[in-house]
Amino acid sequence: MDLGIIVATSLILVVVVVVVAVVVVVVVVVVVVVVVKVVVLSPNYPRNYPNNARCAWTIRSSPGTQITFSFSNLKVPSDRYCLSDSVSVYNGARINSSALMLRACGLTAVAPVTSTSNVIYVMFRSDSATTGTGFSAQWSTRRDCYYNLRGSSGTIQTPNYPRNYPINKHCTWRITTSARTQVRLSFTSVNIQNTYLCAADYLANENGSTEMGINVEQEH
Ligand SMILES: *[C@@H]1O[C@H](CO)[C@@H](O)[C@H](O)[C@H]1NC(C)=O
Ligand SMILES: *[C@@H]1O[C@H](CO)[C@@H](O)[C@H](O)[C@H]1NC(C)=O
Repeated sequence: MDLGIIVATSLILVVVVVVVAVVVVVVVVVVVVVVVKVVVLSPNYPRNYPNNARCAWTIRSSPGTQITFSFSNLKVPSDRYCLSDSVSVYNGARINSSALMLRACGLTAVAPVTSTSNVIYVMFRSDSATTGTGFSAQWSTRRDCYYNLRGSSGTIQTPNYPRNYPINKHCTWRITTSARTQVRLSFTSVNIQNTYLCAADYLANENGSTEMGINVEQEH
């Protein structure tokens, strides 16, 4: 065969290989992105996870939402206190023993947990002894206490009003009135825990993304 044909054939082969590789990578990336968004899997799942594994996932949803984390499968053999192999779910972005929502192990799936914040931290660990298929879990987000109101007038109130509002609530009222009108908000009663800069409990007014910061002082 003449050299030109050999070079041309090799070039075509290289191009085909590169194209196939790129397509495979794109498909893998798409599948991974789609799966990771809704499902959390222990390493090697559904095959056995390795010994001495440490894996962590930070799951973040938009502000003002909560995250529900539920197992669809749990095969994490451990001792009765889940000290050897375990899955821990923290309310917040880091390991924090006082924000531990769930420590799971064993062979039967446990009840779902829901965070109060918009970020949870999931940590899986195994020791050098037992192993199992691990876990598969899903997460979903929900907006607690969200009101979308329209009209020319109305009343809003905190949850349970006039009884005490619950702890750990993040409520949003979105008030829309007709074009070229303004919204006037007048408080008829305010009883909110008062802390410096309203860091604990506060009311704010957000005009689109502009926080106008009407912080309301406590009145007796
Ligand atoms: C740990 O969790 C507690 C209770 O949720 C919280 O008050 C505290 O700020 C957290 N600490 C850190 C460092 O995140
Ligand atoms: C609120 O947002 C609207 C639309 O972005 C803007 O026209 C208006 O000036 C804003 N009002 C205040 C008080 O910031």
